[in-house]
Amino acid sequence: MTNDRVLTVVEDLERTLVEFIHKHRITHAEYRAATDLIVAEVQAGEASLLFDVFLEAAATDMDNEGREGSIEAIEGPFYLPGAPWLDGSPCVLPQRPDESGLPMVFHGQVTSDTGEPLAGAELDLWHADANGQYSQIHPGIPDWNLRGRLRSDDEGRFEVLTIAPPPYEIPKNGPTGTVLDALGRHFFRPAHLHVKLRHPSLGERTSQLYFPGGEYLDSDVANAVRDELVLETALVEDQARIERQGLTGPFVDARYDFAFAATAASTSV
Ligand SMILES: [Fe+2]
Repeated sequence: MTNDRVLTVVEDLERTLVEFIHKHRITHAEYRAATDLIVAEVQAGEASLLFDVFLEAAATDMDNEGREGSIEAIEGPFYLPGAPWLDGSPCVLPQRPDESGLPMVFHGQVTSDTGEPLAGAELDLWHADANGQYSQIHPGIPDWNLRGRLRSDDEGRFEVLTIAPPPYEIPKNGPTGTVLDALGRHFFRPAHLHVKLRHPSLGERTSQLYFPGGEYLDSDVANAVRDELVLETALVEDQARIERQGLTGPFVDARYDFAFAATAASTSV
């Protein structure tokens, strides 16, 4: 049965690509190299990496058009469902006893776009370790390291202790790396936190938060940084605050307030 949406976009894509082939006088050898590259992506376990690097942020921008309040961001390829629930005060993201990296307190508030606090919102947080690597993706890291879920309190507030992640290079030895190399581009993403929010009035929202002044903010290989996704951060060296936080040395205070509209497009949970 014909699907009108598929008909519209696929036939336009076909027209666009045929025009592209004529415009650039693409040879058969070049055409076959391109299709072989996509096959190689799948075979290398980089099924979505090539597309995510070049196109995911643009699709996210489409979803964000006309939205009030917070915007969504790319998910990236390293999300895993089912991260452990965290409790305690403050919540601590699972980490090794000798986890490298500057301690960081990530906190903020979840509200509707009109400022109404959203209690019990689920925050599903994941990020890279100090080597730019993710648990269950890169070898030698305990399962669920730097991955966990917590809930906002009665005022919509949340707080979790973790470490500040660094910028990292995406996989560069596979087909995606070959393409980026041929374009003369670097492989770095700026330092970031990944967060999914879930709440009955929001459904599921995906965010990704960046550090002000961080390296590669202006040249993200995935072109996914948006001004609205930048954290407020400060390096805290005040001894009293360090002790209040239960820490022994300076830490990064990182704040972000989520204010999503309940009526915007979302996936039910
Ligand atoms: Fe990431």
